[in-house]
Amino acid sequence: MVTTINTPTDGFPPGVSLANAPSPIRGESPELRLALASLQAQAQTLNELIRTTVDALASPQAAPVPGTRAFAEIAQRTVPRWHFAMLNDTARNEALATAVRRAIPPGATVLDIGSGTGLLAMAAVRAGAAHVYTCEGNPLLAEIARQIIAEHGMSDSITVLTKFSTAIEVGRDLPRRADVLISEIVDCGLIGEGLLPTVRHAREHLLAPGGVMMPVSARLHGQLVDSPAMVNLNRVHEAHGFDVSLMETVATRGHFPVRMHTWPHRLLSDPFEMVAFDLAHDPLLPGSRRLTVPVTTDGRAHGLLSWFSLKLYDGLDLCNAPDNPESHWMQALLLFDKPASVTAGESLDMELRWTETQLTVV
Ligand SMILES: C[S@@+](CC[C@H](N)C(=O)[O-])C[C@H]1O[C@@H](n2cnc3c(N)ncnc32)[C@H](O)[C@@H]1O
Repeated sequence: MVTTINTPTDGFPPGVSLANAPSPIRGESPELRLALASLQAQAQTLNELIRTTVDALASPQAAPVPGTRAFAEIAQRTVPRWHFAMLNDTARNEALATAVRRAIPPGATVLDIGSGTGLLAMAAVRAGAAHVYTCEGNPLLAEIARQIIAEHGMSDSITVLTKFSTAIEVGRDLPRRADVLISEIVDCGLIGEGLLPTVRHAREHLLAPGGVMMPVSARLHGQLVDSPAMVNLNRVHEAHGFDVSLMETVATRGHFPVRMHTWPHRLLSDPFEMVAFDLAHDPLLPGSRRLTVPVTTDGRAHGLLSWFSLKLYDGLDLCNAPDNPESHWMQALLLFDKPASVTAGESLDMELRWTETQLTVV
């Protein structure tokens, strides 16, 4: 199979094409055809992006300036929609700003990983930091942060780096290692935004020895759940009498967000701690843990409902437990491959596994 990128001058519309790959490729196995189709779906998305970009470069009138359809399309594709709910989560914002105030000694050099709008970087300046370096992997968000910071007259105190933290070099992007590392890069299941590898890298390469970290540690909690309705969010067998279970090849692997109260369910255990991470000292590598969960109620255990408690600094915590429906973070659902019938009084053995960004339970 040959992949080409056409330029606008070679007579074909610009974009990626999978040459020699008629669809479907006859005689190939169903698995190979799914693999090829997944690449075609990806190429289609890339083509749309290339087309928008080439149009914009070809004609100044088509520049994707704010207010145009092209800008809106790019913005919706590249900036996750949860940023709005997150920024309106006042309990989160207040807890983070207070933690930043407590964590930063006057005159410190601060590294903020994941600028978003620049919120934590600006809170750090207000808290007395001498200078804040804030990095953002999404160039559009980095530019938004840069402009918001300028509007607040803080451009002299904050340097916005348009790059992922793992690409930062001390001596080029940072004058020296930072005294304080601050970040809020957690999803509903804690690790989905890359908290573990990001902190692992930052404390090894970007933070001064003995430097301060915010957040400090995190715990993941779980509870056995019986909920066919929640299973239906990511599994399907038949629809209108037809077997459509092939759809499961595109189901989400690992944890995904659910708002517990939205879906009918029964809880089959008490909440329990699944794993804890000390962000300053633990290896923060992929791993696993055997869990033995005492069952409190008879039922069909479909998986674990999970949430985190994040220790920010000095007694300040953030938590997305089901009893905190105000939090913009939903809970995370980890489904078993096969449900287990359980009886109150017995225990259920399972293994929690975490990769760099996904939680699973088997
Ligand atoms: C959850 S948002 C928080 C934004 C902001 N700190 C706040 O609290 O409002 C995390 C942001 O970090 C960015 N991000 C995640 N990991 C990153 C990394 N390793 N380096 C740079 N940016 C990162 C994402 O693109 C996202 O914009």
